[in-house]
Amino acid sequence: VCARKKVITKLLELTYPFHDGFVAVIFMKYGYYGQVASKVPPGARILEVGSGTGRMLQTLCGRAYGVGLDISKKFLLIAKERLKRCPFDLVLGTATNLPFRSDAFDAVVTFTMVHHLTDKEKDEMLEEIKKVSKLYLFGELDKSWCWTVLLLRLIGGKSVMRKEKLEEHGFVVEEWRDMGGFCLVAGKARRT
Ligand SMILES: C[S@@+](CC[C@H](N)C(=O)[O-])C[C@H]1O[C@@H](n2cnc3c(N)ncnc32)[C@H](O)[C@@H]1O
Repeated sequence: VCARKKVITKLLELTYPFHDGFVAVIFMKYGYYGQVASKVPPGARILEVGSGTGRMLQTLCGRAYGVGLDISKKFLLIAKERLKRCPFDLVLGTATNLPFRSDAFDAVVTFTMVHHLTDKEKDEMLEEIKKVSKLYLFGELDKSWCWTVLLLRLIGGKSVMRKEKLEEHGFVVEEWRDMGGFCLVAGKARRT
């Protein structure tokens, strides 16, 4: 893992109480996790890339099973405790090099993680996602000049999710729905 990623991961770990104890609680209150989770086919084997402290997987507990992957060991340990009664394995790794065989999952999920990636890393991640699953479900920031994005730039945030980027990688975008105040889009894309 390169030096830039290490620094960003450290910054994220430092600001984690704010995300986990405040932002994630608001997301839960407004049903943002649920809006993405409801698109996951019941009983699906899923991979969440950038599963963090396990808030999204917690929402999916009972609906799906599978794997959460994250670049932070600290977050994985918190998730392990949070998800101890849920059918998810947790793996240390990076979005740009997924250690799974082709079509290993029914769906890949990401939630508020794409903005941590550079454009090149996004390209790499989308190719990896395409390899391991036909279906990609996401809740991601999609407006560059939004207050949440500007705030995230302070901790190394990069750029937002764009429909065109998915299409460039051969996905068909089936849903793209604004989730409101935080500039999040809930979306569904399928490999062609
Ligand atoms: C804002 S958190 C969201 C966590 C989780 N998806 C949730 O909604 O609760 C973003 C997560 O992406 C992870 N992340 C950032 N860059 C990554 C990368 N290149 N590979 C894997 N995970 C990454 C961070 O460590 C962090 O846990």
